[in-house]
Amino acid sequence: MDPVRNPYAPGAGQRPPELAGRDREIGQFAVVLERIARGRPERSMVLTGLRGVGKTVLLNTFRSMALQRLWGTGKIEARPDQSIRRPVAAALHMAVRELAPRHRAPDRVEYFLGVLKAFAAHDPKAPKGSSVTTLGIDVLMQRGRADSGDLEVDLTELFAEAASVAGDLGVGIALFVDEMQDIPATDVSALCASCHELSQTGGPLIVVGAGLPHLPAVLSASKSYSERLFRYARIDRLEREAADLALIAPAEREGVTFTADALDALYAAADGYPYFVQAYGKVTWDVAASSPVTAADVTVAAPEAESELAVGFFGSRYERATLAERQYMRAMAATGDDPVPTSVVADELGRKPSSLSPARDGLIKKGLIYSSERGLIAFTVPHFGKFLRSQPA
Ligand SMILES: Nc1ncnc2c1ncn2[C@@H]1O[C@H](COP(=O)(O)OP(=O)(O)OP(=O)(O)O)[C@@H](O)[C@H]1O
Ligand SMILES: [Mg+2]
Repeated sequence: MDPVRNPYAPGAGQRPPELAGRDREIGQFAVVLERIARGRPERSMVLTGLRGVGKTVLLNTFRSMALQRLWGTGKIEARPDQSIRRPVAAALHMAVRELAPRHRAPDRVEYFLGVLKAFAAHDPKAPKGSSVTTLGIDVLMQRGRADSGDLEVDLTELFAEAASVAGDLGVGIALFVDEMQDIPATDVSALCASCHELSQTGGPLIVVGAGLPHLPAVLSASKSYSERLFRYARIDRLEREAADLALIAPAEREGVTFTADALDALYAAADGYPYFVQAYGKVTWDVAASSPVTAADVTVAAPEAESELAVGFFGSRYERATLAERQYMRAMAATGDDPVPTSVVADELGRKPSSLSPARDGLIKKGLIYSSERGLIAFTVPHFGKFLRSQPA
């Protein structure tokens, strides 16, 4: 069928034509926003899940919800080895800029921007004077607040100032953090501590995170109270009904339907994983000659969709691994699809577990595997084991 009208959208953070199966999380977040705006105590939300399940898309949806309620919003994507100081400064700059036109006291906004400028200027890694210009804040720097150089102290003060600007307008500020597991350890602890402080004062600012399944473990290793700070929502594959809806609803808007067999075949292929739903849906649409789409269309489309996934979804990640890391992942894949003890991987390779730590740690840092429980590791990418087993050594 006409590829120009193809509605499906496989891609990273790519907004799906139909956001299926996430009503519960959306409903919960709506409550969080209302409660925070009214100064009620509420835990913020952190989304966790495997690669391609739709964490980024849901985080962006949450952001739209906050914007609709006239909140100030900003977003960062954490990176390993990068301090969050400057990204957070830029995100809060954006959030407050959204609020500024409605604020009745321009000098208060200006004061906040001055504090923000001093906060950003304290980046130890930034060349002298550069951070101030790159943020593009055109006000006088305010000294003595959020500029001690200690991230925990500074974030706490900055959050309090930002919250109070939003509070003046009866709204809040939401700071979204994607790939939250990648925040360096010292910064995670500073971030949790400042959220903790903020939760006690009831300031209307929330940090909403998304990351891989081990994110709760990362946060609680940093601060034991993080479990009481965040409500974890595990984002998983779509149930059959939601997966069908993700395919049917966008097609319907183009006057296209699916036979029941076609939907069976698509669910069997995509296994409910949102990225795969989009990927198989997209190729199947292009292959089908006309509506309704049939199981035969899916049969023709599947190999093509698989080879696209092999290059884009799996291959691009595999390429990022070193030779030793690839061997490690192949050994994991050889043991099956369940989380596997590191000692079993070592046996598989005929090596001592300790000699494999660099490969394992490297893969964790690259976000390809995670430790699911003590001593067990698993792929962050769904169906990755199957992919590796299908590849020639
Ligand atoms: N609820 C949903 N219904 C239908 N499609 C979805 C849904 N959520 C996400 N998708 C699709 O799945 C794909 C992956 O989404 P997204 O990039 O948000 O995943 P992710 O969890 O952030 O992955 P990663 O861990 O790699 O960053 C996108 O193509 C998106 O359109
Ligand atoms: Mg993402």
